[in-house]
Amino acid sequence: MTTSTPAITWDIEAVRADFPILDQEVHPGKQLVFLDSAASSQKPVQVIESMNHYYRHTHANVHRGVHVLSEAATALYEESRGKVQKFINAASRKEIIFTRNTTESMNLIVQTWGRANLGPNDVIVLSVMEHHANLTSWHILQQEKGFRIRYVPITPDFHLDMEAYQQILREEPIKAVSIMHVSNVMGTVNPMAEIARLAHEAGAIVIGDGAQSVPHMPVDVQALNVDFYAFSGHKMCGPTGVGILYGKRALLEAMPPWMGGGDMIRRVTLEGSTFNDLPYKFEAGTPAIAEGVGMGAAVDYLSALGMERIHAYEQEIADYLHDRLAEVPGLRLFNPDAPHRSAVATFTLDDIHAHDMAQILDAEGVAVRAGHHCAMPLHQHFNVPATSRASFYLYNSLSEVDKLVEALYAAKRRFSRK
Ligand code: ALA
Repeated sequence: MTTSTPAITWDIEAVRADFPILDQEVHPGKQLVFLDSAASSQKPVQVIESMNHYYRHTHANVHRGVHVLSEAATALYEESRGKVQKFINAASRKEIIFTRNTTESMNLIVQTWGRANLGPNDVIVLSVMEHHANLTSWHILQQEKGFRIRYVPITPDFHLDMEAYQQILREEPIKAVSIMHVSNVMGTVNPMAEIARLAHEAGAIVIGDGAQSVPHMPVDVQALNVDFYAFSGHKMCGPTGVGILYGKRALLEAMPPWMGGGDMIRRVTLEGSTFNDLPYKFEAGTPAIAEGVGMGAAVDYLSALGMERIHAYEQEIADYLHDRLAEVPGLRLFNPDAPHRSAVATFTLDDIHAHDMAQILDAEGVAVRAGHHCAMPLHQHFNVPATSRASFYLYNSLSEVDKLVEALYAAKRRFSRK
């Protein structure tokens, strides 16, 4: 066992005090050890209070009324957009579209850019590690438009196969490359800037799935030079029901709208409609206003802690986690080595089924996710039906790594008696 000397000062007790949900027993005598933040993170009081305050004092519909509350709600909502813009260093607030989540952001790209630009002779590139949001949204349009999809494989050590990627780009013209920045299963941190550079050289546009990167590391969309980038509020200390699509302004301007409704129009007659400017062109109907406000509070919270520091702390957790897990006999891990990995451990143990494993861990108070984690093709590639995943965040302590390891030994003991 390695003892870890923190490279940064991280007041874990102060951070945990911001997350009241963590302070509870989930079974008699079993304190919650929440290791499922890749599915959805917990929320600090600052975010909860921002939404509470909004509903108590400011709620009205946005962009519509001239009364005090509507103007105040609009100002708060638009202030959040500005915070998100700054957080990911987008060039303009017009490039920040509020959606429901990463999945909706991906579908928006597919149904607007994809529908307008892809036909039967076109080819796009995805990867074997993609989340279903990035697979099924293209599959739906593919059935209608008949374009081809090529998939970048992964290497035996759980990285994107960059040589195979470059080979695909050399072989034929590619219209778009859509790849996740960080794998939700393996925690692999893909070289997004390099992926984008190579795609642009080959004449393709680049879409980044940032669901598992934006919560955990500094992300600068201009430095990455991605054309589109999608992420969710609920994985980054914000509420459910709000996500972001970043897009380069020229691309967004050229795209047709997706959903019709209020707010996205300029003028409607019985003969037809003209559409609003960015970003509203893509924001039909009353949005999730309180959630947008909560998203702004989440950005404030993460910014105050500092994304560089959050990333450094999580790297310490990842190192300690993988050092400790290396001791456990019978554990098969599906994660790359440092440094290109996040604080995630995805595993099978002996021949214990992932769902049984998650139940045993839960009995010990340890919450993990079991199944295919919305990445069935990746599990087909691994040739396993399911895995268990422990995913850590800024409020997890190193001692919770120890609790996970103890719970894994408890599972081994229980199954060896059977
Ligand atoms: N995509 C989320 C996960 O990986 C839901 O759990």
